[in-house]
Amino acid sequence: MKKNIGIWIASLIIVIGIILILFIETRNTPGQLPDVSITQPTDEVENESIVIEPSPLPIPPLLEDKSDDPDKAEFELHAEHGVKEFLPGKETETMGYNGDYLGPVIQVRKGQDVAVKVNNDLKSEVTTMHWHGLEVDGENDGGPHSGIQAGESWTSEFTIDQPASTLWFHPHPEQQTGKQVYKGLAGLFFIEDEQSDKLDIPKSYGENDVPLVLQDKRFDKDGNANYELAMPDVMNGLQGNSMLVNGVINPYLEVPQGMMRLRLLNGSNASVYTLNFSEHETFYQIASDGGFLEAPVEMNELVLGPAERAEILVDFSDFKKGDTVQLVNGDKKFMDFVVKNEAKETFTVPTELTTIEKIAPETASTTREFVFQGMGPHVNINGKQMDMDRIDEEVSLDNTEIWEVSNDSSMGMMGGTVHPFHAHGTQFQILDRDGKASPSNEAGWKDTFLVDPGETVRVIATFEDPGVFMYHCHILEHEDAGMMGQFLVK
Ligand code: C2O
Ligand code: CU
Ligand code: CU
Repeated sequence: MKKNIGIWIASLIIVIGIILILFIETRNTPGQLPDVSITQPTDEVENESIVIEPSPLPIPPLLEDKSDDPDKAEFELHAEHGVKEFLPGKETETMGYNGDYLGPVIQVRKGQDVAVKVNNDLKSEVTTMHWHGLEVDGENDGGPHSGIQAGESWTSEFTIDQPASTLWFHPHPEQQTGKQVYKGLAGLFFIEDEQSDKLDIPKSYGENDVPLVLQDKRFDKDGNANYELAMPDVMNGLQGNSMLVNGVINPYLEVPQGMMRLRLLNGSNASVYTLNFSEHETFYQIASDGGFLEAPVEMNELVLGPAERAEILVDFSDFKKGDTVQLVNGDKKFMDFVVKNEAKETFTVPTELTTIEKIAPETASTTREFVFQGMGPHVNINGKQMDMDRIDEEVSLDNTEIWEVSNDSSMGMMGGTVHPFHAHGTQFQILDRDGKASPSNEAGWKDTFLVDPGETVRVIATFEDPGVFMYHCHILEHEDAGMMGQFLVK
């Protein structure tokens, strides 16, 4: 009997303790708590690394421009449900643009007036269409305020006023971005200009100029890739063990014995990739998020965080016919390159690519601080979680500002998490990381950059487009949980 009372009292103390902790945790989180019921952690999920037979790499089609006026471009996209066979004989429910998974490539030119009609053909959920990296006004940026209800459409109009670059598009509905991107809603957006015309680099789309959308996914034994978050996913974002390129596991691409230009997008929800080629192939990064670097940067390893892009040149001319080179992320393989036949054209790595006018720090009128804080459901920026009805920062139109972004990982029990910072409607230049120069492949335009635990990254930008924009962590589970804020440019 005494023993029973002891157990009873102990249990009571534990229960009171838990209630107290929950109460304090909630009290500690300023701002509005997100509806975490949609991301209620599940029990253990299967996360096998799936091995399947190699298949050819699909090349996303270029979307037809419906305008015959060369100064204009008109496109139409449909967000729709699909079923795709990622694993042989297994059906997976997906979403895609104009297809079952991912979307076509939109290609535009600098100076063009562009209109894109986005149709929401999803059964019952709201979506939006955000142009990640595009310098566009808030009305046409496609953030969470621009919801498109099921069965409705939204037309976004803008003039391309930025250099040649590899951007991308994806949905941005409040608290549902992680799920919709994971299901397959994402596509690439290329801008070309006189500079990209002039450069002597590979430009034959699908032959020597190939986009690689890198993602990871988690399949159960029936082939389902459900968006179910376990506790580690709430903490770190959803990371799967099966690697996909352009929506396919274990693809191969036949390449000429010559120079390839690869346009890489980390289209994952939360994973930071460290990319290498087997044989430690040297390659050259020629573009970052917002366009060409001033000069190619030689490397044999590239770190690419969620939403970041990089264009690289890889020279396969020293390989023999039939040789295979792998693209890997640590010990996980993304794909094979199979060296096929002689190259039709020969290229050398250019010494110069473009000129980028450096924005002088003295021209900045304001310095703002953004601090990533908290964990799991409590992730926030500057102590605040996303509130659609609150503007967090006001920026004067055409002003130049320094943004100081830091990652306060002091709360992290496991050494903290890296957070990729992204802001809409502008492109940044990185001034420094912890007061020191950032790597040379970050010396160009950036719209997304990694901030390590404890690190402070200073960036500078001129805000030339008016409206309401988002800044957030691009780990989509963090964004959906509230690690996001709004700035008004006017
Ligand atoms: Cu890639 Cu707020 O977006
Ligand atoms: Cu964006
Ligand atoms: Cu984050």
